[in-house]
Order: sequence, then structure tokens, then C-alpha cells
Amino acid sequence: MSINPSALERVRAFEREQAMKLSAEGRPLFHLTPLVGWMNDPNGFCFYKGQFHLFYQYHPFSRQWGPMHWGHAVSGDLLHWTYMPCALAPDTAADAGGCFSGSAVPLPDGRLLLAYTGVQPAGTFRRETQAQCVAVGDGTDFEKSLLNPVIRHAHMPVGYSEFDFRDPKAWMGPDGRLRMVVANRHEKRQGTVLLFSSAEGLNWEFMGEIDASCEEYGRMWECPDFFALDGKQVLLVSPQEMHAREEFHAGYGTVAIVGRWDEKDCRFERETVQPVDHGLTFYAPQTTLAPDGRRIMIGWMDNWETCKEAPRRHPWYAQMSVPRELAVEKGRLVQRPVREIQSLWRDTVIHDRVTVREETALEGVKGRLLDLSVTLYPADSACRRFTLRVAKDSAHYVLVRCDLARGELVFDRSHGGSHRDIAHTRHVPAEVRDGRLTLRLLMDRESVELFINGGERVVTSLIPTPIAADGVTFEADAPVCLSVEAHHLG
Ligand code: FRU
Repeated sequence: MSINPSALERVRAFEREQAMKLSAEGRPLFHLTPLVGWMNDPNGFCFYKGQFHLFYQYHPFSRQWGPMHWGHAVSGDLLHWTYMPCALAPDTAADAGGCFSGSAVPLPDGRLLLAYTGVQPAGTFRRETQAQCVAVGDGTDFEKSLLNPVIRHAHMPVGYSEFDFRDPKAWMGPDGRLRMVVANRHEKRQGTVLLFSSAEGLNWEFMGEIDASCEEYGRMWECPDFFALDGKQVLLVSPQEMHAREEFHAGYGTVAIVGRWDEKDCRFERETVQPVDHGLTFYAPQTTLAPDGRRIMIGWMDNWETCKEAPRRHPWYAQMSVPRELAVEKGRLVQRPVREIQSLWRDTVIHDRVTVREETALEGVKGRLLDLSVTLYPADSACRRFTLRVAKDSAHYVLVRCDLARGELVFDRSHGGSHRDIAHTRHVPAEVRDGRLTLRLLMDRESVELFINGGERVVTSLIPTPIAADGVTFEADAPVCLSVEAHHLG
């Protein structure tokens, strides 16, 4: 039953009005931002009718989180996005408290199924509850099922929560039946990922629990994703309230569990556990399969702990990460920016095997729209410490320092222009391998995404640094040989 049938139309009218007023100025070149207002998690990432669709958690009316809608954009190359009208508004009894995160699956009949979290507002004696809803449409307009919510608390064994039950990620199984993973907070095991299946998307059967935090990797797990890749099975989750351990930092984390999957027994066996991204601003990633077989992941380039403090300089707030191609190599998840990025390469500057010591700028290597690769060859050098500074002027810089002896890299944006007492640094393993260490930095005005050693580890961070700070310098504690390839992006 619709409590406000025109809510979506009102949002769409507001978007049309805003689209006429807003300029592209200040927007990143290739990172998706919301048309207007607030954005968080990527939702419904899929390839449908010849283009990539990306939906997102959206509050059009302010630059703060609010009643959740689904924004929508489409792209042919994952870099240039065209806005579509808002896809979902919280306008039915099943989702009046918000249309939270979810996913999209093209159906055999040619329609697109959206699976999302319907939040039901708190009553006088009850907290807000969460359940899974569906809507079906043509890629622009979606009709919510009158049967929503189609997966409720009653679908699960005892012990699972009706308050923390969200973020359905659905896909089509090889047998033509739909599968869906959903996050739930179990009273004992905390964050868990549950599996459901369905013939048509309306009647869902509980198949079992895939994995659980058991307080080891945070409490509630958000935004699960589950897929086969390179002969392994990968589970992605975004835990809340993690403790720092191994390579994980405290707070909101991203976890990739690589293992083996036996669907028959609903048994997932962990082999390796690693952070998806070590950066200051990366959360809630979601993947899709491209028509050419690539598994592509995109994340919210932000963090719940710090976003409230972040400056609101534009009529929109927040960005997605660059879409990344995933692979499993030597049992670990590896990521690289989508190869389409090469279409943005303009002027290329190469410095092959130069030696640096004192802080040095290299001819033609500067800017805030850059795809910069640095290969360090420390083998014949006494160099123990190498420092790269980007977004630099006389007052600011963002620092990447490699401690070669310890095999550790520090990313530090403390001098990047923030006046907030929040986390600005991350320490990440970064080892010299076969005589070299490679760093690839993708810079798009207000962000840096650093891919270490071919994407073995990634550090993603927004930087508040004034755009005029565009210097890049190299420094080492002893002469060291390096090669630099800088592609200016346009
Ligand atoms: C993750 C998250 C999801 C939820 C959404 C609400 O960032 O908390 O679990 O569905 O954001 O906007």
C-alpha cells in the first residue's frame, strides 16, 4: 500500500530543476558523484541493456544522510556517467523508513529486478525493523512488489535479528534460480551472511549461513557480496566496529575472505582473510560481472566515522571509488583500476631509470588529474627510505613514505589541508619484490587511490587539499633509481 504515491515524482521534479542549475565545475573527472545532495553505498551495480547501471544510497534534499532513496546513473565505460531519474523513494509501508542498500539482476524476461532493504519505521514500542524488498522495471521505472517485504524475520531460524537485517546482493545462479546473500546480526555470532534462493524473486527459501564474524572481524557485517573468481570463492563484507588486528585498522573495515564454497552443504571454507582496501575512505564495495567476464568492484569512497566532519564544498556530497578489476592471485584478492582508464590518458611523460636523492620534482610530472606509476629499483642502493609527495605546494602535501627495510608504506594526509582531529594516516605492508616496488596513484582532484605492487594492496583516500597544490616530488635517504610514467588525465 502506498502511503505517498507522488514522493518519487517530487524527487524527480526536484532533480530536473537542480540539473538545470548545477554545473560540472568542481566535480571529479571520472568518479561518480550524486546529481545533488548526499550519496553513500553503491547499489544495484549491473550490466543491463548494453550499459552499466549503478544505483546508490541517496538523499537528494541535503548533503547529509537522510531518508534513503536510490539514485541512478548509467555508463558505457565505467568512467563517464549519465544521471537517470531517482529509482526508488521510501514511499510504501514496507520501506517508509528508507530504501537501504541492495542489488540488481537482469531477469530472463528482459526486466531488471532490484532487491533492496526496506526499513520499517519505529513504532512507539518498537525499534525500526529491516526486511528484504523487490521492485521490477525497465531500467528507468521500477514497480515495487505488493508482496514486500518478500524476506522477513520469520524466514530465518531463531537468533537472527529483525533490526540488523540488510543489504541483499542477488545474482542468477547457473541453474536459473536466483541466489541472494543478506547480512544479519546474530545474537551470538554477530555479523553473519545468510544465503537465500528463489525461482522468481518473490518466494525465497533460506539456505543457510555462509560465514560469521564471531567478534573476530567486527560486529555487524554490512553489504555482503559473494562470487566465484579464478577458481576460488570470494566473500566481501564491510564490518562495523572492528578492532585493529593483523592488517586491519579499527572502525569501519572492508574484508575479503577467499576460500572454497560447497553450495550443496552450504559450506564456505576460509583460506585467507585480508582488508579489501587499507585506505581512509573506502567502504561498502559491490561487484558485478562485465560482459567480457571481468569481475568489477566499486566502493563508496568515504567512511562513516569521518564523513560528518568532511567539508561540504559542493552542492553534492561524496564520491564512488574508481571501478576496479578483481583477480585472485596467490590466494589473495588483487585490484587494478579498470583498463578503460587509458582512454583518459592525455599527455604522457616518462622518466626512465633516473636517480634521485634530495627532494626533486621531475619535468612534466605534476597535476591533480594523474595516473602516475612509480617503479623503485632499490637493489644496488643504500636507500632505506623513499618518499613521494603529491598535491604539494608551499603549505600542503600528501605523503607516501616507503620504509624499505621494514617493508612498510605510510600514507599520510595530515598536511593535506584538513583542520580536523581525525585519522589521517595508514600503515600498509609494501615489500620490494624481484628487486622492485611499484606504486600507482590515480588522482582525481580530491582523491588519491594508491595501488601497491600491481594492486596487491590498495590505499584509497579523499584529500581536502586545495586544487592549486599540484606538485609531485621524489626523495630518498640515499641515491636510488626509479622510473616514472605520468599520464595526465582529461
Ligand atoms: C552501509 C550501510 C548499509 C545500509 C546503508 C544505509 O554503509 O549502513 O548497511 O543499507 O548504509 O544507507
